[in-house]
Amino acid sequence: MAQTVKINVTVNGKQYEREVEPRLLLSDFIRHDLGLTGTHVGCEHGLCGACTVLMDGEAVRSCTIFAVQADGHEIQTVESLGTPDNLHPIQQAFIEKHALQCGFCTPGFLMTLVDYLGDNPNPTEEEIREAIDGNFCRCTGYFNIIEAVKLAAQKMASH
Ligand code: FES
Ligand code: FES
Repeated sequence: MAQTVKINVTVNGKQYEREVEPRLLLSDFIRHDLGLTGTHVGCEHGLCGACTVLMDGEAVRSCTIFAVQADGHEIQTVESLGTPDNLHPIQQAFIEKHALQCGFCTPGFLMTLVDYLGDNPNPTEEEIREAIDGNFCRCTGYFNIIEAVKLAAQKMASH
């Protein structure tokens, strides 16, 4: 049996103590060990952004981090954003602007944008394009995503 390491991680406000193999990726820990399958895995090479979560409030690609590196840290996944009756303003904006089709990329966009709009509440279109240039979407052509980010910024400003 492979050697394991004990880690303590807070995910979406809940504390977890788990034994993990040192090579286990944070994305696999979140999806398989914790069952939080809202975090998607596309490339597993840090390129597509689908696996983005927040670590201590900063957007990170969970496929490029080992679970042991999250020891003692706070992780937020897309499951923490809102509920069906009370969506996060960014989720609401994505719906209103039709910014998703298959939805595979959406959790990564949402988590990237939660971090980004928290720091940059009033971005220009150019800045929005830069903010999402590490998140790949194969369906939408990005136009509606950009419109959704503009709307989300407005919603968050009036919140
Ligand atoms: S799955 Fe992590 S960046 Fe693509
Ligand atoms: S909505 Fe399908 S990949 Fe973005």
